[in-house]
Amino acid sequence: MIQRITDLRDYFKQYDKSIQEPEKFWAKIAKTFTWQKKWDKVLKYNLHQAEVNWFVGGKLNITENCIDRHAADTPDKVALLFEPNNPNDAPTKITYFELYEQVNQLANVLKAQGVQKGDRVCIYLPMISQLPISVLACARIGAIHSVVFAGFSASALRSRIEDAACKIVITADGGKRGDKVIDLKNIVDNAVNDVSCVECVLVVKHTQTKVAMDELRDKWLEPLIDRAAKTCEPEMMDAEDPLFILYTSGSTGKPKGMVHTCGGYMVYAAYSFQQVFQYEENDIYWCSADVGWITGHSYIIYGPLLNGATSLLFEGVPSFPDYGRFWQVIEKYGVNQFYTAPTAIRVLAKQPSELVEKYDLSSLKVIGTVGEPINEEAWHWYDKHVGKGKCPIVDTWFQTETGGIMISPIPYSTPTKPTFATWPLPGVQLVLMDPEGNEIQGKSVDGNLCISFPWPSMARTIWGDHQRYIDTYFSAYPGYYFTGDGSLRDQEGYYRITGRVDDVIIVSGHNLGTAPIEDAINEHPLVIESAVVGVPHDIKGNALYGFVTINDHSQDKEQLTNELNAYISERVGPIAKVDYIQFTNGLPKTRSGKIMRRILRKVATGDLNQLGDTSTLLNPECVEDIIKGKL
Ligand code: PRX
Repeated sequence: MIQRITDLRDYFKQYDKSIQEPEKFWAKIAKTFTWQKKWDKVLKYNLHQAEVNWFVGGKLNITENCIDRHAADTPDKVALLFEPNNPNDAPTKITYFELYEQVNQLANVLKAQGVQKGDRVCIYLPMISQLPISVLACARIGAIHSVVFAGFSASALRSRIEDAACKIVITADGGKRGDKVIDLKNIVDNAVNDVSCVECVLVVKHTQTKVAMDELRDKWLEPLIDRAAKTCEPEMMDAEDPLFILYTSGSTGKPKGMVHTCGGYMVYAAYSFQQVFQYEENDIYWCSADVGWITGHSYIIYGPLLNGATSLLFEGVPSFPDYGRFWQVIEKYGVNQFYTAPTAIRVLAKQPSELVEKYDLSSLKVIGTVGEPINEEAWHWYDKHVGKGKCPIVDTWFQTETGGIMISPIPYSTPTKPTFATWPLPGVQLVLMDPEGNEIQGKSVDGNLCISFPWPSMARTIWGDHQRYIDTYFSAYPGYYFTGDGSLRDQEGYYRITGRVDDVIIVSGHNLGTAPIEDAINEHPLVIESAVVGVPHDIKGNALYGFVTINDHSQDKEQLTNELNAYISERVGPIAKVDYIQFTNGLPKTRSGKIMRRILRKVATGDLNQLGDTSTLLNPECVEDIIKGKL
């Protein structure tokens, strides 16, 4: 078992140990797992070349640690709980023993289809039990899984399948999201037609949608599983063998396939889960992210299962059948740790408060957020209405590239502070850099956030393009990993992520982060969300252009614009006045809920021919609306 941090003094002690003797620190944690062969050396690295090896020479299979250990010790404990899209449908539970059998069966099916160690398998599934089972079945036989969020378009899926040369695609006849059924199989057909690497498409029956099946290529999964044996020897993997590829969009160019490896990822996913959520035996843990994102990989599947936890998966959306759904699910299962995104919190906070007050949320002990800066108003709403002022909020900062949470309060140890992710986890060495590449020392400073020492779950490369990995992350500040984010470090040494550094706009010589301006706008009671971008201005260099989503368009726009600027002036300063405010019905978002500023910047500057691919957006239809309403 991983030892949990018990209090603030313990956190400091653990942190110091992890810095003084990193190899000893991580070896002690790694020893709590089952290894088929112990490592020869804990760490070998050269950050200039982006070469990092953890637990060198160690052999293991992550599924033995996620499943076999617990199937032997606590076979009847529930590993995974599934809450279906429709609250009236029956939920499912899978115990650790059942998970063992089901993963092995699918692993045997994959083998029978010719999948071997090192082959890539694309998983394009909704949030149903076959999704984590597919992930683990790949890991069981050493195949590299590449999960693609089942909301991406056929062209986005195709480029990911081709980039990794996937041999198999696992999908379903359809996916349910609220009152919609998504035609997944049809999307896969469009994605893989004449893609030569794909030999077989395995299809799960879920929505009973009628689908076309290619006789040579497509197979229903269930009959194959029914015939498969329930045991499958785990493949012996080198600690540095790839475990998965997960694509993340770059600021430019094609998506980057971040490669995570078996040993280090396992150790860090397990360690960070335990510390950040302070999971206790018999707790029910729920992360509302999709498995298609790193949050889902590390904190729905691997982190919880490595700790023998019970992890809940939710198939639906927060607005169906109404905006009380999250709170209803928490009450239904007695959820103890709840982890979601600021974008969800902001939407839910705008709903009538009866929707949250009518449910019993007293089981909650820790509530978390991830994915973007959480604004002060949303933080307080979450604290008051969901945590009832008694649950620490873990504002967790990490990235697809970091594999696991890097900055977060340790609940019940670290005093929280709205909008601050607080301190790094043990083993994480943060530095702030000035534009000349010097480390900024001291407190109450801000700069570009870098990490100066390897941690076990860092991505090792970009699939097929190591040079791009070096160029993107290790060349701005040689010898350091550059996160691409800016951060403050306050008096207490707390970190507050201020957003991507490319979101800084210089107006009349002042550096303005867009996040605090948007926070001020979002505090206005009529505002749902906002995004501020820069447009060239003759005198100031840049002017600010705000896109502001409101519910009620009957308001006097000029008056509302003045009110918003008064809010900004009061909270950020008159220098941050937004020159143009365009009122919108919605903002273009990525599938993970991030506002696509790139598109908004182009609309604001009138660069409409270069909008790029909008097909992967959550809501591509709103782009047209925004273009029409341009000021
Ligand atoms: O800008 C930071 C923001 O999300 C980026 C990473 O995005 P992605 O790889 O999609 O992973 C999201 C889930 C980990 C970061 O570079 N970000 C993530 N968490 C926070 C955050 N910004 C502020 N506060 C956070 N807690």
